[in-house]
Amino acid sequence: MKRIAVFTSGGDAPGMNACIRAVVRGAVYYNLEIYGVNHGYKGLIDDDIHRLHSNSVSNILQKGGTMLKSARCDEFKTKEGRKKAYQNLKKRKIDGIIGIGGDGTFKGLSSFFEEFKIPVMGIPGTIDNDIFGTDFTIGYDSAVNTALDAIDKIRDTADSHGRIFFVEVMGKDSGHIALRSAIGGGAEAVILPEKNTNATDIINYIREDMRREKTFSIIIVAEKDSPGISIGVAEVVRKTLPDKDIRVTILGHIQRGGKPSGMDRILASTLGLAAVEALMDGHKDNMVGLINNELVFTTLKESFSKVKPLNTDLLRLVKILSI
Ligand code: F6P
Repeated sequence: MKRIAVFTSGGDAPGMNACIRAVVRGAVYYNLEIYGVNHGYKGLIDDDIHRLHSNSVSNILQKGGTMLKSARCDEFKTKEGRKKAYQNLKKRKIDGIIGIGGDGTFKGLSSFFEEFKIPVMGIPGTIDNDIFGTDFTIGYDSAVNTALDAIDKIRDTADSHGRIFFVEVMGKDSGHIALRSAIGGGAEAVILPEKNTNATDIINYIREDMRREKTFSIIIVAEKDSPGISIGVAEVVRKTLPDKDIRVTILGHIQRGGKPSGMDRILASTLGLAAVEALMDGHKDNMVGLINNELVFTTLKESFSKVKPLNTDLLRLVKILSI
């Protein structure tokens, strides 16, 4: 292993910069040449590949976004696209690739390894925390903290006006962000994709709250696969409880930006260096994650085909602690 490339792909996540820094500095430490690919798979195909040095990653550890930019790229899903990418890597004699991203990124890396046998390593970077083979993904903790910060603010105005707020959080078809935000934000209820909570359940929660003379409520809604879903839920509730003052806040992409939390910086640094060392040790088609604070290698195929279960027992916390 002499030359490796690193890229970020899919939705960006706080901590990606800290991870790029760890990969670059790790590679420099082991006297490897390190190349950064801009715009994820698109950059591999368009040959947007540049040599990086230790000082290329100065002062990025604490910054949100990704200095290598990110993209979702349909062309890489085609054999022709992947072939172009291979030729660009081959001409630079790059013999290992590290991709930081989510399940889409890992699917791409896995197909690429199958076809061209260049060793690849995946690092889980997505706010959704929906990757099998790691307790936490880079960006998840920061996104939950951003949601909590927003919920605290919403709580102030909900209290002043005696309102019910539906707060929608990201996470695609997984409820990890929603569940943690509900516990940490002291929500009265949470609607998760993994559970069949419907508007009637929510109406019942609100009626219970009314019996307990609560003057305001926070209800967290996971976006599921249709961002904006909370507007429809709130509408149904409003029709049944016309006396209630109901508002909806969709947090959206603010959860993807901002400084990474301490936990994300440390996770990103740990996994970035581990990925470089894993390539040097001969790992070829793996993702590196952290389970119970230990480094764990999972095949890329497993990482995107197995579902990381959501601990729905934690719903007890939401229910019991909001009485
Ligand atoms: O996968 C990360 C994520 O932020 C999801 O939570 C969200 O559904 C999606 O990406 C949004 O994607 P886009 O960047 O295309 O708006």
